[in-house]
Parts: sequence; C-alpha cells; structure tokens
Amino acid sequence: MSPQVARSIETEIETARLRLRPWREEDLNPYARMCADPEVMRYLPGTLTREESMRQIERFVRHWEEHGFGLWAVEGKAGGEFIGFVGLMRQDDWPVGEHKVEVGWRLDRRSWGNGFATEGAVASLRYGFDRLKLPRIISICDPRNTASRRVMEKAGLTFRGEARWRGYDDVWYAADCRDWLNADG
Ligand SMILES: CC(C)(COP(=O)(O)OP(=O)(O)OC[C@H]1O[C@@H](n2cnc3c(N)ncnc32)[C@H](O)[C@@H]1OP(=O)(O)O)[C@@H](O)C(=O)NCCC(=O)NCCS
Repeated sequence: MSPQVARSIETEIETARLRLRPWREEDLNPYARMCADPEVMRYLPGTLTREESMRQIERFVRHWEEHGFGLWAVEGKAGGEFIGFVGLMRQDDWPVGEHKVEVGWRLDRRSWGNGFATEGAVASLRYGFDRLKLPRIISICDPRNTASRRVMEKAGLTFRGEARWRGYDDVWYAADCRDWLNADG
C-alpha cells in the first residue's frame, strides 16, 4: 500500500532549519505514525489509521495539482528526517467571510518546542502573500490548542473570533497581506 504521489508538482522552500518539499511515498510510514499519536491528534477529530493517513496524503497531493499550492512535507535540513507538514489549504466550507485559504501545521511530537511550526508558518505565509498574492490567510483551531494559538500569534496572525465548523467550536485568526508584509519589514 503506497500513496499516489508521483504526479506531485509543487515548489520547494528552504528556511533556516527546514526543507518544505513535495510529498514522497516514503513519507507514509512517519506520517502514519505521527497521525496515530493521540497527543498529536488531541485537538483534532481523532487519530488516523494507516489507510486514513495514506488517503490524506493523496488529498494533499490532489490539492497541489488542482490549486497549485498546498501543504508541504517538512523535513529537517540537517538530518533529512520527516517532521510533519505545514502549508496552505483551501477550506471552501469555512463559514466566515470570503477568504478561505488556511495556513496549517502538524508536527511529530519529537520535534515540538524548537520553533519549527512558527518557522514553517512564516515561510508559508510569505509564499501565500508574495507568490500567490492572497489578500488574507486564515488559521483555525480548537480553542484549547494553546500551542497552535501561540504559533498563530508568533507568525503574525491575530485573533478574529469564534465559529462553529464541521460540528466543532473553533477559534480563528487571520493575517492581511499588506499589514503582514509591512510588519515583517
Ligand atoms: C502546534 C504544534 C505544531 C507546535 O509545534 P512547535 O514546533 O512546538 O511550535 P513552536 O515551537 O513554533 O511554538 C509553540 C509555542 O507554543 C507554546 N506552547 C507549547 N505548548 C504549550 C502549552 N501546552 N501551553 C501553552 N503554550 C504552549 C510554546 O512555548 C511556544 O511558544 P513560545 O515560543 O512563546 O515559548 C505542535 O504542537 C503540533 O503539531 N500539535 C499537534 C497538531 C496540531 O494541533 N496542529 C494544529 C491543528 S489546528
């Protein structure tokens, strides 16, 4: 069983410590392990089976093919190990406002606490504003997900409100292109 990733076409980005790169078949094992970890999935609907993780990777790749952007697989530049994902995803059923591209992240527990999510989020926002010319990028999470909310703040998103989405009560943050680029210098 391996995900269909061969037609992947996306761009690669390097940050100080990370490589944001296209998905590969060998990402399935570490991705499935990460998504089976209850601590990683604590504020998400639930842990995933290997099959569900594979389907997710396939959806991520399809998103790239359909929209020309998406979630990157993230690896450490130094060791090349798979760390998780970060990037941009359309959430067409998001109920608030007209801007529905979300910046999101999910990292393996062993890599938490190093600023990696923030580093990847900033690179994703820059890509969304500079390259894709998006006027606004949002980010959504469970209100109790303090680490994610902190990443949103550190990456320059600001709190915009609460909303019910897919049966859950969420908080959402946003960054507007001009403000974010100006603040970033
Ligand atoms: C959210 C997540 C990506 C953070 O990754 P990370 O690389 O550790 O994030 P960073 O190091 O860039 O920043 C995390 C910040 O949250 C803070 N933090 C972490 N856990 C916290 C907690 N339980 N309470 C309060 N703050 C917390 C950290 O101290 C840090 O802030 P600081 O730099 O001001 O000290 C990671 O925890 C994760 O993958 N979680 C599971 C998946 C998930 O929830 N994804 C988002 C779904 S919407």
